[in-house]
Amino acid sequence: MNSTLPSDMRNTAAGGTAGEAGSAEEILLSVKDIRKYYPVTSSSLFPGRRKQVHAVDGVSFDIRRGETLGLVGESGCGKSTVGRQVVGIEQPTSGEILFEGKPLSGMKDREMRRIRTRLQMIFQDPYAALNPRKRVYDILADPMLYHHVAARSDIDARVGQLLDEVGLPKNAKDRYPHEFSGGQRQRITIARALSLEPQIIVCDEPVSALDNSIQAQILNLLKELQEDRGLTYLFIAHGLGAVHYVSRRVAVMYLGVIVEVADSEDVFRRPLHPYSRMLISAVPVPDPSIRDRKVLVPQGEVPSAIDIPQGCRFHDRCPFATDRCRSEVPVLSSYTDSAGKTHEVACFNVAAAAADAATASVAEGKEH
Ligand SMILES: Nc1ncnc2c1ncn2[C@@H]1O[C@H](COP(=O)(O)OP(=O)(O)O)[C@@H](O)[C@H]1O
Ligand SMILES: [Mg+2]
Repeated sequence: MNSTLPSDMRNTAAGGTAGEAGSAEEILLSVKDIRKYYPVTSSSLFPGRRKQVHAVDGVSFDIRRGETLGLVGESGCGKSTVGRQVVGIEQPTSGEILFEGKPLSGMKDREMRRIRTRLQMIFQDPYAALNPRKRVYDILADPMLYHHVAARSDIDARVGQLLDEVGLPKNAKDRYPHEFSGGQRQRITIARALSLEPQIIVCDEPVSALDNSIQAQILNLLKELQEDRGLTYLFIAHGLGAVHYVSRRVAVMYLGVIVEVADSEDVFRRPLHPYSRMLISAVPVPDPSIRDRKVLVPQGEVPSAIDIPQGCRFHDRCPFATDRCRSEVPVLSSYTDSAGKTHEVACFNVAAAAADAATASVAEGKEH
């Protein structure tokens, strides 16, 4: 049974995941229709014509306390830009971000400083994120002193606890970032984020720059910390592999907008948006139920975020595109997959795409 959300709920990835009992109080962070446009300098060909990069173009989602929302999509689709708005490093061009129900934009400086400690971000490149001239002790101690989260007399003990919590030896405090491996450096950036007692951590591709063998260790550490501290994560990645492992729900982004949201397992096993299927086709997975699914290879290249295609942004790469897709913009609406699970999908051709995926698996079944 396919049902469609009422129009006032459309275009949001809010709450509403099937089977989850949620109430408004449990929502820790609400992102409401945020847009972020960056001006680009006018070219010599068209002097005077102001162009803009539409990095994020109307994104909405809620994150409940203690959950992980995965945000996934190809490089350049606007994931980091969303992350920066969420933690308040940048202000959105329009739209609103609510933390514990309060809009970040309306906060006074003092309150904003306090809230900023609650919203932390860790980055892909742990070396660039750490000041090479500071010892680990100072990297961890300085933010705590600056934000008054610990008394000076408690700092030594706090640094020791943080190092222990992220699996680094006590003597790490006397060393400099360059003395550590990539995985250890990421542990330092995690400890620094934790030092301010955050409630939400935006993890921006935190394992993408690490060796495969180290990636699982860092993902496990993030999971353990989440359980111990009740943390809430926005977990950003360009592929579905790591996201699937850590996230309960996943939002798939394409060129500044969200095109599908559902429980992580359901997106991974039964993606409904053709773009989600393409992303999953690119994941090397040993699970036969996924490996045998019909692969959908993307056509063409990602369009520029300066010249956004009319209609559905994905239409010129989509094998199911119709005339409607070239002129009308699809909004997120609810669809039920073959296992009865609800997905929010922005696509006019969900049924045709799903039929194509189903035909493929039946055809493959006959061959055996
Ligand atoms: N400060 C900026 N000025 C101009 N363009 C930017 C800026 N930051 C990001 N962009 C552009 O916005 C788009 C989204 O970037 P980003 O959020 O970094 O994507 P992702 O994290 O998904 O790779 C890209 O086209 C990028 O070039
Ligand atoms: Mg990024």
